[in-house]
Amino acid sequence: MFRLAVRSKSSNNYLKSSLIRYSSSSSASKLTADKYNVKRGNYSTINDDDLKEFNSILSSNQIITDSNDLIGFNQDWMKKYIGQSKLVLKPKTTDQISKILSYCNKRKLAIVPQGGNTGLVGGSVPVFDEIIISLSNLNKIRSFDEMSGILKLDSGVILENADNFLSEKGNIFPLDLGAKGSCFVGGNVATNAGGLRLLKYGSLHGSVLGLEVVLPDGTILDSMHSLRKDNTGYDLKQLFIGSEGSLGIITGVSILCPARPKSVNIAFLGLNSYESVKKCFQTARSDLSEILSAFEFMDHDSQLLAAKNLNSIHPLCQEDKIGIDSVPNYPFYVLIETSGSTKEHDDEKLEKFLEKVMENETVIDGTVSQDEAQLKTLWTWRESIAEASQQFGGVYKYDVSLPLDSMYSLVEAVQKRLNDLNLSSTTDNSKPVYEAVGYGHIGDGNLHLNVAVREYSKDVEKALEPFVYEFVAKHHGSISAEHGLGFQKKNYISYSKSEVEIKMIKDLKDHYDPNHILNPYKYI
Ligand code: FAD
Ligand code: MLT
Ligand code: ZN
Repeated sequence: MFRLAVRSKSSNNYLKSSLIRYSSSSSASKLTADKYNVKRGNYSTINDDDLKEFNSILSSNQIITDSNDLIGFNQDWMKKYIGQSKLVLKPKTTDQISKILSYCNKRKLAIVPQGGNTGLVGGSVPVFDEIIISLSNLNKIRSFDEMSGILKLDSGVILENADNFLSEKGNIFPLDLGAKGSCFVGGNVATNAGGLRLLKYGSLHGSVLGLEVVLPDGTILDSMHSLRKDNTGYDLKQLFIGSEGSLGIITGVSILCPARPKSVNIAFLGLNSYESVKKCFQTARSDLSEILSAFEFMDHDSQLLAAKNLNSIHPLCQEDKIGIDSVPNYPFYVLIETSGSTKEHDDEKLEKFLEKVMENETVIDGTVSQDEAQLKTLWTWRESIAEASQQFGGVYKYDVSLPLDSMYSLVEAVQKRLNDLNLSSTTDNSKPVYEAVGYGHIGDGNLHLNVAVREYSKDVEKALEPFVYEFVAKHHGSISAEHGLGFQKKNYISYSKSEVEIKMIKDLKDHYDPNHILNPYKYI
């Protein structure tokens, strides 16, 4: 990698070395229903006649009832939410889904739609014995129009597969995230995923042009449009973008995919304060302007977690060290991605920008990728924080929108609270918490606060909730910038939505899903 030639004059003495040693621990495996004291809704229980009906719609290899095979479908990515479903259905067509929903609606059988099961709020797994409808067999690319860049595909296509397909055509999927190898395009739409390049490509509310959705009574809503402009009536597809499986099952997606950038650069930088992170972002926005495609920030402890997980050499390490020992002491790191169409132009712009931010000491240290492999390595130090945070026992995750000025103070407030309650410890194994770390899509005003724990504990959860949500509401933010409400935040929607808004959401739910068969115990 190319080390930045211009080095700042400041010394890096803000942070005393606080390298943390971690030990592994087991995760609790309690059922969601017990852990959160949930009462089962008035739904029917699956009987032999139901199985007969499903067998008439699907072939036997599309029906899973074996208890071992059900485990993965019942447990979420964080191993925090565990359901008790006895049945997974894996339809191959929209028509099969329509027949299943129509039947379940009449029988009052509850359903959970499941994509890649990478959701981070407990929305993709059942709470009791809901039937899981997995979209994994609905995985075909339907069409691609090279002129317009419009891709039509089944909702069960894995995001990375969709992007690889587009790459061969010279296009890019307008969404990228760490779970791209597992999450499905339908799951992305259902959660309105934001990801790493929202800064450049905008939200799915803008790039999705049409959807095919099966409503709770089995009705198929076919609005797989290819139009960028259509002002005839309500824009119904928007209702399902971010509806988290509460209003219908998305089976098809029509999406506008831009040209793939020909030139991509990454700069990975070390900074001495959060103020500098903000200043750096402001400068990047004005000086890199149209080629700025990602601006991500990470605090020091999030890099320690990543280092522990990756056990490789940190990009800004200057010594012969590995793992957590290789993480320098900068309190903050920033990853900047530029993408454009002319390499010389982009390189020159980035170089000038870096000279400026190092001259004025906004940035203290940095490195720039020289090739595709280095680019991927640099991204790894940002993308792997999610995985790293949960693998030493568990993680409490908060995904909030906040004004930039108050964004990092949430992490500090939580660190202080855990310390005051004597819950935070980096060395004492008898205490439940490792660390509260902050990172995220600063370019989108989106902070990720992860509290990594040795095991899930009510004491820690009570210390964090509603504390975090109150902080966010007080600062006029949103309690979910991108992961959604799911099970985790269903009781806290009022911190971000008014009574009138909540009533309209409930009215829509009651109207389209009067039996509340779709994804119960979640969302609202
Ligand atoms: P699932 O987890 O299976 O489902 C999520 C929700 O959508 C559930 O409520 C489910 O019922 C519903 N659902 C799924 N498919 C359908 C469908 N076809 N029709 C109707 N409802 C459906 N999110 C971000 O926004 N930005 C990120 O940067 C990001 N990074 C991540 C990194 C990692 C490592 C992980 C594990 C997760 C990350 N996520 C991120 C969270 C997650 O929301 C996304 O991974 C993804 O959008 C979920 O897709 P999925 O197919 O796994 O959906
Ligand atoms: C991310 O940006 O990495 C994801 O949203 C997942 C996470 O919260 O860690
Ligand atoms: Zn994110």
